[in-house]
Amino acid sequence: MSGDRGSRDILAEENSADREKLVGMLEKAYWMEIETVMSYVANSVNPDGVRAQEIKESLAADITEELGHAQQFAARIKELYGVVPGSKQFSAEQDYLQPPAEATDIPAVIKGVIEAEAGAIAFYNEIIDFASEHDPVTEDMVIAILRDEQGHMREFEGFLKEYEAEGLA
Ligand SMILES: [Fe+2]
Ligand SMILES: [Fe+2]
Repeated sequence: MSGDRGSRDILAEENSADREKLVGMLEKAYWMEIETVMSYVANSVNPDGVRAQEIKESLAADITEELGHAQQFAARIKELYGVVPGSKQFSAEQDYLQPPAEATDIPAVIKGVIEAEAGAIAFYNEIIDFASEHDPVTEDMVIAILRDEQGHMREFEGFLKEYEAEGLA
């Protein structure tokens, strides 16, 4: 690290406090993606019934995207002189995506997915806010990820609308 690269450079020594704050946010985002992968794997398999099929297929397709997000966050942590945390640092938070009591309870899964995506959207907007002042490269990366999450959330809002229209959610 050289100290004379100018104040805009997130890799400059003088910006180490901002960089460490950003790395902390990226670590949290990384864990959110990893937990989402776990939850989507489970929920792409567990649900029963004819109506579950569409949801299971959609979640199965999203797993690859969420894993890709985790990999992008990991790569950016490393680029910012951080260390991608080990698995023993993980602590689960997605109460709302645990298997429902009934495997045919599709609305519970849909609502859980919407909550996960809404949480990611809120937190990634925070990262974008901070990065917009300190690190346009991270800002750019997270904007692209944010768009994916918005797409996921909108799709599941559409699924929920159908259940609500039929009085099932
Ligand atoms: Fe994601
Ligand atoms: Fe997502």
